[in-house]
Amino acid sequence: MPPQRAPRSRRKPSSHSPGAAFSLRKRGARGLFLTFEGIDGCGKTTQLNLLSDYLARLGLPYLVTREPGGTELGEQVRKILLRRSSAGMDPRNELLLYFASRAQNVAQVIRPALAEGLTVLCDRFTDASLAFQGYGRGLDLRFIRRLHRFACQEVNPDLTFVLDIRPETSVKRARKRNLSARHDEGRFEQEALAFHQRVRQGYRALARQEPRRVKLIPAEDDIETIHQKIVALARPLLARLSRKARP
Ligand code: TYD
Repeated sequence: MPPQRAPRSRRKPSSHSPGAAFSLRKRGARGLFLTFEGIDGCGKTTQLNLLSDYLARLGLPYLVTREPGGTELGEQVRKILLRRSSAGMDPRNELLLYFASRAQNVAQVIRPALAEGLTVLCDRFTDASLAFQGYGRGLDLRFIRRLHRFACQEVNPDLTFVLDIRPETSVKRARKRNLSARHDEGRFEQEALAFHQRVRQGYRALARQEPRRVKLIPAEDDIETIHQKIVALARPLLARLSRKARP
């Protein structure tokens, strides 16, 4: 599997037009880095796919990736992290594995794509480690930020969409999906409600700390309403890359 493909976004594999990438590169523009976050079952992957459709309509070159995963090595790490038999994994080990996958994704996929001028859409990034391992499991937030600086080579999202939803609603959705999932990714679904509450509060804290970058979006609305909110937030940045995104 080529590294730039997002295996779960089969409906919308990463796509970009080399011609457009070249003209952006000539102007020296770095691509935009947009990330999607939220507790499990918040609907972020659906929204990522809708935004990628929107970028395609604008004719903007883009790439889709995910974490954990995004590279062959990262997908192997993903299997280890998410299988049911990994429940009870030491939280420090868990944190390091997420960053192992992320370091590879940044080096091999995200950084080169941004340098080429592609817009990168990533299903989760470091904010997930802050929310889940930091706020959720109580690991030191400052240490996680240091790990980020080490592993991510100064690659930081330009805009992050946090789909904010009550854990009671999202757990129901996640359970439904895991029942039909082919792979064994059920570990997180088994987590206690209290854990998901802490993760949600963690994301809300991140949005308060960095309001310009981290945008909290109510995720119990219908899919199209949420999509329109995301487009409205992304538009000013996308307008720099495409005339069509300008009002
Ligand atoms: P994801 O594939 O986004 O799951 P879903 O689409 O079901 O929300 O993420 C898998 C799980 O990994 C999810 O429970 C969140 C967790 N996770 C962390 O705990 N820390 C991280 O740094 C990342 C990237 C994910």
